[in-house]
Amino acid sequence: MSRTHAIPPDQTRRWLEPGPVVLLSTAHNGERGIMTLGWHMMLGYDLVGTYIDPGNRSHALARGSRECVINLPTADLLDTVVRIGNCSSADEDKFERFGLTAVESSEVDAPGIGECHARFECRLHETRITADYPLFVWRVVAAHAAKRPKWPRTVHYRGAGQFMISGDERSRRALFKPEMLES
Ligand SMILES: Cc1cc2nc3c(=O)[nH]c(=O)nc-3n(C[C@H](O)[C@H](O)[C@H](O)COP(=O)(O)O)c2cc1C
Repeated sequence: MSRTHAIPPDQTRRWLEPGPVVLLSTAHNGERGIMTLGWHMMLGYDLVGTYIDPGNRSHALARGSRECVINLPTADLLDTVVRIGNCSSADEDKFERFGLTAVESSEVDAPGIGECHARFECRLHETRITADYPLFVWRVVAAHAAKRPKWPRTVHYRGAGQFMISGDERSRRALFKPEMLES
């Protein structure tokens, strides 16, 4: 017995949301970009895949520089996150428009965003896939995170303008094999 009904395959994202919405910052030839990005996935402990549509200015900046910073915003930045995702770096500098602090990175030229809870500096790891498909596979080469709050209230996109805010924490450490808790 099943409680399900058929849904269009292109609505999959509403159920399989991949994780917190991030702000991806880039810089190339004196130009800076920020885009809102929901479609990402871990591909290893320090490898992250991101889908960056070729229509976005950030695609050209990421491709040209082969670097980016993945910034983790929290719920207090939700309106800014949505607004950043509804305009283009081709038209304006989003750091200036949204009053965000450009933080110098330690390993890449792209600046991070000071208002975010964490920043992951990335270098392009894999180019074969990106040649055929707008999937960028990044290696995290440096990372910075705030110590508090321990569990930041991240924002998660369900599609159709609807967001889920994280916050209901539960530990199940007792159910894990010890070796599964190492990382
Ligand atoms: C919540 C949200 C999630 C988004 N996720 C993605 C994504 O995963 N990949 C993508 O290419 N665009 C995504 N977008 C759209 C880009 O953020 C948007 O096109 C942005 O304006 C691109 O900026 P740019 O032209 O400066 O690169 C998302 C937008 C929003 C509001």
